[in-house]
Amino acid sequence: MRMVDIIEKKRDNHALTKEEIEFFVKGYTQGDIPDYQASALMMAVYFNDMNDDEATHFTEAILHSGDIIDLSNIEGIKVDKHSTGGVGDKTTLVLGPLVASCGAKFAKLSGRGLGHTGGTLDKLESIENFNIALSNEQFINQVNALNIAVAGQTASLAPADKKLYALRDVSGTVPSIPLIAASIMSKKLASGADVIVLDVKIGDGAFMKTLDDARELSRIMVKIGKNFGKKVVAFITDMSEPLGYAVGNKLEVLEAIRTLQGNGPEDLERLSVEIGAQLVHLAELTPTLDEARDLIKEKIASLSASDTFKQLVEAQEGVYPDLNQFIQTQGVVAVNSQASGYVKHLNALDIGLSAMRLGAGRATKDDSIDHNVGIVLNKKVGDKVSEGEALAYIYTNKEDIANEIDTVHQAYEISESFVEKRSLIYEVVE
Ligand code: URA
Repeated sequence: MRMVDIIEKKRDNHALTKEEIEFFVKGYTQGDIPDYQASALMMAVYFNDMNDDEATHFTEAILHSGDIIDLSNIEGIKVDKHSTGGVGDKTTLVLGPLVASCGAKFAKLSGRGLGHTGGTLDKLESIENFNIALSNEQFINQVNALNIAVAGQTASLAPADKKLYALRDVSGTVPSIPLIAASIMSKKLASGADVIVLDVKIGDGAFMKTLDDARELSRIMVKIGKNFGKKVVAFITDMSEPLGYAVGNKLEVLEAIRTLQGNGPEDLERLSVEIGAQLVHLAELTPTLDEARDLIKEKIASLSASDTFKQLVEAQEGVYPDLNQFIQTQGVVAVNSQASGYVKHLNALDIGLSAMRLGAGRATKDDSIDHNVGIVLNKKVGDKVSEGEALAYIYTNKEDIANEIDTVHQAYEISESFVEKRSLIYEVVE
């Protein structure tokens, strides 16, 4: 087989065979196929797409480039959740303990944040001593004992994806739906769960900008998962404004704990309950989705889920925080509204980038982060605001934050007339 023939075939808009796709992924991962040929193929896929069979074969080839985690020593149905990324998205911290307290086996491998999006590992590591580097044995034993473990993805999981993603990143080929689907699903399938719920975000702060694209990505990912014998459901949810109020690592942990205690923002609680209910129901712990919802709500009300979070922290060597002392910054600066009215738009991307520049996130993979800093919104879309009232608070360890104050101002659009709150969940794709 010759790589140039595969490139030409895709350039001319023909479907590639399983063998051709395997030849490419194997050859590229082993270093036999050069970057210039790989990027030519990625660009041909970007323009000419892949059909569902090609996307499935591509996923399979990436999946088999590394280890597949064997969770068979965990008793019961294993569940996992993946978000395509967003600003203030701390759902995993809430729904993990929620579903674990309902009896589901939440075996989660998470990643770090990059750019304007946060990562679950960074949030957990903002808790003193929290250990995300569990061995396979520790991971499995902890899920058996506690129903939940959250660890870092190792380099041996879908290594072809790392190489391909880095190439796509510099060749303008990240936003191809089948390539995104294969990238996400190869890692999810390698993580070994039986049930996967996907949260596909749309809006300023997300990869997908339109409902049609989010639908197509969801459809392909659900199809790929089913082709591998998994139960997969995708939620399409809003990321045009941040989720909840807090953006930044410790601030988000605090908000997640409050949500588990029944005092969290409505949108975060609702999304966690809905995704959690799907996981609990698909794990066959309740006969209906409604009963799963009720069970989850009861675990919040009884503080059972909040206890599970504390047990998770302690099992992974963390020091459960004193919530009143947890956030330590040199300053908290209010950004006050310059007009009265209703919040019409709140740009998640601007808020995410501003939090990143304050130190809460990374511009490049090797940057270090400040776990304490970030932004806490005081107003969200649909809220009434008076001139001089705080739109948001900036938690900072930097002296000069004039640029960030400006950015937060610009992220808000205030209208004189009444504005409806945004829908949170657009669709569920099964
Ligand atoms: N997230 C991934 O893991 N891969 C992509 O290609 C895009 C988003």
